[in-house]
Amino acid sequence: QDDLFKNVVSHAKEYGYIFPSSEIYDGLSAVYDYAQNGVELKKNIREYWWKSMVQMHENIVGIDASIFMHPTTWKASGHVDAFNDPLIDNKDSKKRYRADVLIEDYCEKLYQKAQKEIEKAKNRFGEAFDEEQFVTTNPRVSGYLSKKKEILERMAKGLDSGDLADVKALIEELEIADPETGSKNWTEVRQFNLMFGTKLGASADSAMDLYLRPETAQGIFVNFLNVQKTGRMKIPFGIAQTGKAFRNEIVARQFIFRMREFEQMEMQFFVKPGEEMKWYQYWKETRLKWHQSLGMGAENYRYHDHEKLAHYANAATDIEFDFPFGFKELEGIHSRTDFDLKAHEQYSGKKLQYFDTEENKSYVPYVVETSVGLDRMFLAVFSKSLQEETLEDGSTRTVLRLPSVLAPTKAAILPLVKKDGLPEVAKQIVEDLKWDFNVAYDEKDAVGRRYRRQDALGTPFCITVDHQTLEDKTVTIRHRDSMEQQRVAITELRGLINEEVSM
Ligand code: GAP
Repeated sequence: QDDLFKNVVSHAKEYGYIFPSSEIYDGLSAVYDYAQNGVELKKNIREYWWKSMVQMHENIVGIDASIFMHPTTWKASGHVDAFNDPLIDNKDSKKRYRADVLIEDYCEKLYQKAQKEIEKAKNRFGEAFDEEQFVTTNPRVSGYLSKKKEILERMAKGLDSGDLADVKALIEELEIADPETGSKNWTEVRQFNLMFGTKLGASADSAMDLYLRPETAQGIFVNFLNVQKTGRMKIPFGIAQTGKAFRNEIVARQFIFRMREFEQMEMQFFVKPGEEMKWYQYWKETRLKWHQSLGMGAENYRYHDHEKLAHYANAATDIEFDFPFGFKELEGIHSRTDFDLKAHEQYSGKKLQYFDTEENKSYVPYVVETSVGLDRMFLAVFSKSLQEETLEDGSTRTVLRLPSVLAPTKAAILPLVKKDGLPEVAKQIVEDLKWDFNVAYDEKDAVGRRYRRQDALGTPFCITVDHQTLEDKTVTIRHRDSMEQQRVAITELRGLINEEVSM
């Protein structure tokens, strides 16, 4: 797993997908830059999401709100008071950790132990194995799982009530050690706000304290009535947005999985009070299907329903993906009730109500949101697509099997040799196709090596111009995944490519 992950990181750099930020100054922790191919893949994912959300839904429209918002926004949303991580320091190593992550990691180990026992029993009993019965009756397995549940409940209680001494007591009782040094000498647990502060205005006295938004959602809530009125939207309807968000993450590791500056793709769906569970269920299912439709393998996704809910939610689930370091959150679907709109009404003194013409009354709508990290989506697609294959002749090839609709470059046009007029014909094909697709031209090295380079870049098609092309205006088109080659007329190329890559 570690090797796979290292491979993903180095491939992303070597093939111009992702660079560490300000690398010449040794980088900046948990901040990354998207390179020439990465920016295309990221843009395509964003567009794919936007099309399915906004273009395909008559009742969903998009906006692009600012990163800076009036500071009272974050008072109302609860982020000033409740958007905290519980931190703990190790007195010996001076390392800082998230207390909840330490406890969750401990619980994950209990879960893994239970899974191991289940696997063993499965192999022993074969067909006759009844997993549900085994889990409830086997003392060891049920012991691990009930311990896990009990620990998580106690942690949630401590965090919710602000009884951080009990969270620390839990860490001591479980004898959780510093993962790097093994030391068990811990400080108290303290809350640490994740928002980045900054200042608006030049002079020290008049400057206003601002925050960089930690989620895009609030830009939608404060614009709810503007959009509803100007767009004559009828409930249920949605507002979608993509954009940067910022969080001062302490446990910032795992490449672009958890960053300090990242991008979200969110949609807030406004519904009639009482109908939120129906819509929560609807979006939960719809979003999972959307992910699965990319063809990365349905088994790589699962739901994780939340027991511990954020301050604004009455139901929440994560769609988790099997990243190179295991199943982790990719997208959140939250039933946010009327928490945000009501809070903004209260703090702004402005009514944020919808007049329902069917019911002939006004109310504050309930909200179901879908929220996916664009960078996480990138990591999911990129890491699953990266494959090492052994070919029939025993050699290996590295291939980035990106879904064609998302691939940065759709086709590479390659003259077989750098003479006899072949480059000119190839360049003419580039000129012709570039109006519809991102295409590349490459004449360096033997054609076999150029194929491999395009495989590693994730380009779905290679189009080769050879001497026969000069006679009959046909070329070969090679498919990245099967490596099969077809002879086709130049005039057919546009249609063939379009069939595979159009969204
Ligand atoms: N508006 C709701 C909200 O922001 P969240 O669960 O805190 O909910 C939603 O975040 C999604 O944003 C996550 O599922 C994840 O994909 C992404 N995300 C959150 N924090 C992130 C970070 N530090 N780096 C990258 N992506 C992040």
